[in-house]
Amino acid sequence: MIIAANFKTNHARESTAAYLDALEFFLNTSGIKSDIRVYPPFTALLRGDLYPNVKIGAQNFYPAINGAYTGEIGAQQLDEFCIKNVLIGHSERRIVLKETQDFIAKKYTFALSNDWEIIYCIGEPKEVRDNGFEAVMEYLWAEFDGIDINYQNLSVAYEPIWAIGTGVSAQTEDIAEVLDRLKDKLKSTPLLYGGSVNTENLQSIISLKSCDGVLVGNAALEAANFCKLIQIAQK
Ligand code: PGA
Repeated sequence: MIIAANFKTNHARESTAAYLDALEFFLNTSGIKSDIRVYPPFTALLRGDLYPNVKIGAQNFYPAINGAYTGEIGAQQLDEFCIKNVLIGHSERRIVLKETQDFIAKKYTFALSNDWEIIYCIGEPKEVRDNGFEAVMEYLWAEFDGIDINYQNLSVAYEPIWAIGTGVSAQTEDIAEVLDRLKDKLKSTPLLYGGSVNTENLQSIISLKSCDGVLVGNAALEAANFCKLIQIAQK
């Protein structure tokens, strides 16, 4: 089971360290052995090997070891922090930061060549959802253009855009339908759901046959609440 916390542009260095200390303590004392990942902002990155029970990941990176890419960070900088897992394709990067499928595929290929664990995000906008399930699947498959789905360190997060940060998660039947169809093709690749996951809806989402975990934003911003989510996911 993968339970991942995406901080986005929240938290700073001190609060991230306090968060990770609390999380590590919780995991140590509870004995829970799930695959727990936290994605802080770059300025709050801490060495990935400081917390044995938590994988610290990067929300973003530029697909180069180093070079002239003002404002970006590459593999050299992530290596210094022993960061070996990354998010790629998040809808906020696709929409707000204007990342194209072509560029996303380049990032994916670069991450794969570094053997990084990848959570690859896909998800449809509301207007596509309104056109029904087959339209959704057509949209989602297009987000796999240039993506090697046979990569062994891949997990895929289905995150309907209209459910992200809105407080309104997708219906469990709709999540199940999409994850089942993805599973047919992606076989043993772990599948996550993301989009307004919280302590109320987690149990029903995580119980779905094809759901192997969740990617959480808002509800994971406080360590205590993230620990609660991890606990619920064990049941
Ligand atoms: P949310 O964000 O849980 O706040 O909806 C999820 C995500 O963007 O990964």
